[in-house]
Amino acid sequence: MMKLAVFASGTGSNFDAIVHAIQNGELDAEVTMLVCDRVGAPVIEKAQNYEIDTIVFSANVYESKAQYEEALLKDCRERGIDYIILAGFMRLIGPTLLEPYRNRILNIHPSLLPAFPGKDAIGQAFDQQVKITGVTVHFVDEGMDTGPIIEQEAVRIEDGDTKDDVVRKIQAIEHKLYPSVIRTLKIKEESI
Ligand code: GAR
Repeated sequence: MMKLAVFASGTGSNFDAIVHAIQNGELDAEVTMLVCDRVGAPVIEKAQNYEIDTIVFSANVYESKAQYEEALLKDCRERGIDYIILAGFMRLIGPTLLEPYRNRILNIHPSLLPAFPGKDAIGQAFDQQVKITGVTVHFVDEGMDTGPIIEQEAVRIEDGDTKDDVVRKIQAIEHKLYPSVIRTLKIKEESI
């Protein structure tokens, strides 16, 4: 069975959607571990309710990114993690994790990349008054919200939509798109 580590920093609605897809039989995988970099983030309680192994770390207690990524790499290796799924993880992945897990780390972003990378992509699109925005799932590379695009879906911003309306439309798409992209992933033979 494909083993996933979900990395998240916030609410965890995408984490929830992935777990639900597994529970409903729509996705043949296991969320083996949640990694969260923000003490008290709501996603932690969600993982605990599902009895999913949870690792919470504070980046600022480590001397470097390499140091905490070494620890996370060990956690992933020990559990035989096949893919790392970033779901609202607001931290760049460095070479320590990226090299062994190249093409095995996915991210979801609430815009049609390369438009509106970074924080508050929905707010950026709303403020620019674009008519079409959307959701992107891509493999992670060194950059912020860059890397080979796997799938995208568009969302129309209608006249009169509030930012909250756009957030709702984007989230509804994210919660379907991420599990459906994960379903297409294959377990790789090479060990990490
Ligand atoms: C999602 O909208 C995701 O696309 C975004 O964070 C949100 C997390 O929500 N990610 C990024 O902006 C990455 N640059 P969630 O905690 O409810 O899943």
